Amino acid sequence: PESTKSYSYEECKATADWLLAQGPVRPQVGIVCGSGLGGLAEMLKDQLVINYSDIPNFPQSTVHGHAGKLVFGTLKGKPCVCMQGRFHLYEGYPIQKITMPIRVFKLLGVETVLLTNAAGGLNQDYNVGDMMVIKDHINIPGFAGNNPLVGRNDERFGVRFPCVSDAYDRDLQELALEVADELGFSFMQKGVYCVLGGPSFETIAECRMLRTLGADAVGMSTAHEVIVARHCGLRVFALSLITNKSVMDYDSEKKANHEEVLETAELRAAQLEKLIANMVSRIETG
Ligand code: 6GU
Repeated sequence: PESTKSYSYEECKATADWLLAQGPVRPQVGIVCGSGLGGLAEMLKDQLVINYSDIPNFPQSTVHGHAGKLVFGTLKGKPCVCMQGRFHLYEGYPIQKITMPIRVFKLLGVETVLLTNAAGGLNQDYNVGDMMVIKDHINIPGFAGNNPLVGRNDERFGVRFPCVSDAYDRDLQELALEVADELGFSFMQKGVYCVLGGPSFETIAECRMLRTLGADAVGMSTAHEVIVARHCGLRVFALSLITNKSVMDYDSEKKANHEEVLETAELRAAQLEKLIANMVSRIETG
């Protein structure tokens, strides 16, 4: 069916080849910037910036806080490509479209992807402004058949039934905590990220349910991209910025809102950029 039509290998390849023909660095690391965290892309040196609207087959960003540009350049001397603006289920795209850029990363020569997102803190020990190294995820849309690998499988990307129990690279998790420690960050956490479709935030009952299920943070992105990245053999690291605390009880006056998400992102953006940059400088590439 049309709704589960993946981009073909040839379409992804055509997009990657078009990008390489623009003469960028050949990236080893791919970065996906979360809501309000696109400043990371500005750190790249010798930039080549390409608008999504100019890239053949590419989806377009529609969300405030997401720019819609692909930025090539070097970060601490390492060739990188950075998505400034990502795609979400709630924008109405089929899930295969949301994750297509990850396959393009792979075909550009990327070996490692680093993903960031803004998330709500379900774990009551978490504070606004904490950074959570993601060690695992719960893919709620996947339970209902909305997994990005639904549809015909092309073995040139990966196997039909990929393992995701090891999705979040242990060495990269450790590296992140090590780098954070060196930077004197006292707000690091490690936990489980739960993805929902959005765009409405969670009800109180939903937050309680997700916490009971073992989720520490909740958001609307990342897990789909991680599944596609692991499918095609990329190493994955992902980080949530806890931009707000999930509302867990009926007495609370607090309400989740996108403004608070962007405000917290702005508060921590510089530190997050530093963390990612220092990680990139120490990532081993082949
Ligand atoms: Cl509270 N929920 C979801 N689903 N996504 C978020 C969020 C909350 N805060 C930032 N992103």
